[in-house]
Amino acid sequence: MMKILGIETSCDETAVAIVDDNKQLLSNLVYSQIEHHIPHGGVVPEIAARAHGEHLDGLIKQALQEANLTVSDLDAIAATCGPGLIGGVMIGMVAGKALAWSADKPFVPVNHLEGHALTPRLTNDVPFPYLLLLVSGGHTQILLVKGVGDYQKLGTTIDDAVGECFDKSAKSMGLGYPGGPALEALASECKNPEQALKTYDLPSPLTDKKTYDFSFSGLKTSVLRHIEKIDDQDFTRETLSNLAYALQYRIAEILADRCKRAIEAIDVSVSHLVVSGGVAANKTIRAALEQTANEGGLSFVAPPMSLCTDNAAMIAWAGLEHFRLAKKDTDFNNTLSFKARPRWPLDELKRGTL
Ligand code: KG4
Ligand code: ZN
Repeated sequence: MMKILGIETSCDETAVAIVDDNKQLLSNLVYSQIEHHIPHGGVVPEIAARAHGEHLDGLIKQALQEANLTVSDLDAIAATCGPGLIGGVMIGMVAGKALAWSADKPFVPVNHLEGHALTPRLTNDVPFPYLLLLVSGGHTQILLVKGVGDYQKLGTTIDDAVGECFDKSAKSMGLGYPGGPALEALASECKNPEQALKTYDLPSPLTDKKTYDFSFSGLKTSVLRHIEKIDDQDFTRETLSNLAYALQYRIAEILADRCKRAIEAIDVSVSHLVVSGGVAANKTIRAALEQTANEGGLSFVAPPMSLCTDNAAMIAWAGLEHFRLAKKDTDFNNTLSFKARPRWPLDELKRGTL
């Protein structure tokens, strides 16, 4: 049985997990730093890196204990080497390399986005190729996942990520961080959806263009303009719930529209549309995507929430998928000298070039 330990430190979750090739999570620990960042209204890279450094070794010990394993029982160590906040990435990558080197195990550098992209194979046995919508605080992409290390980016955001649009709009409505869940809760209080959509006819950037790309900064600005126009006495939770509803509706519509285009246009036969990333927690968005998938004759898959948001099980799994395909003696020659990459687009990956 192949067992891989994965480390994730690219944003504000410090995470360690051990996964085997039977798709069992032998341990899956996530330390959320959210309390550290709430006072600042967003993730502060320096604070994140320090917190990763403080918590990572304890989490690695705990993960091994929970799985009832020692380092020598592992087949390899995988760690996120990018993309992400570089200080945090360095902490996890160097810890992973040190552990691998000291135990004489292979080190597998993992692309964080590939972790998200391969998660549905861990959770739902989804076969290649499949369409993936990756929606998080840092990323908004539609990808054709053809195989391990084999990705074709169809569309991406030309400005803000969709999670940023949720977070920034929530901030301008006076909601706390992270804004996505707070905005969803507010939108669910909307009493008259039809009226809300009439009052707040928000823009749908790029929808009239023949593209799979997204743009969210104009939508965010439009929300801000509406807020500025609301009189003080009308600045109530009820008014804001209408605006939140209209925004969430529009975002779901935009995401579904691009997926529909992708389903109609790709020339390979895919059976699944998969959504992953923190924004995939949103029920309105899930419902819109499920409908789009079903109308296009595809099955819809959303991994369980704990594996949609940042975690290390997805890193261990992506590491495992590469590891079992690799030619051990050649592919792992130089992985200890792998350099962390703040930017690392998925379509630059190739099978066998770890
Ligand atoms: O994947 P994730 O945990 O972290 C990365 O960005 O990699 O995603 C976090 C993002 C934040 O922008 C957060 O506001 C958003 O996901 N989010 C949501 C919801 N839950 C989290 N957005 C909309 N609705 C939600 N229920
Ligand atoms: Zn992520």
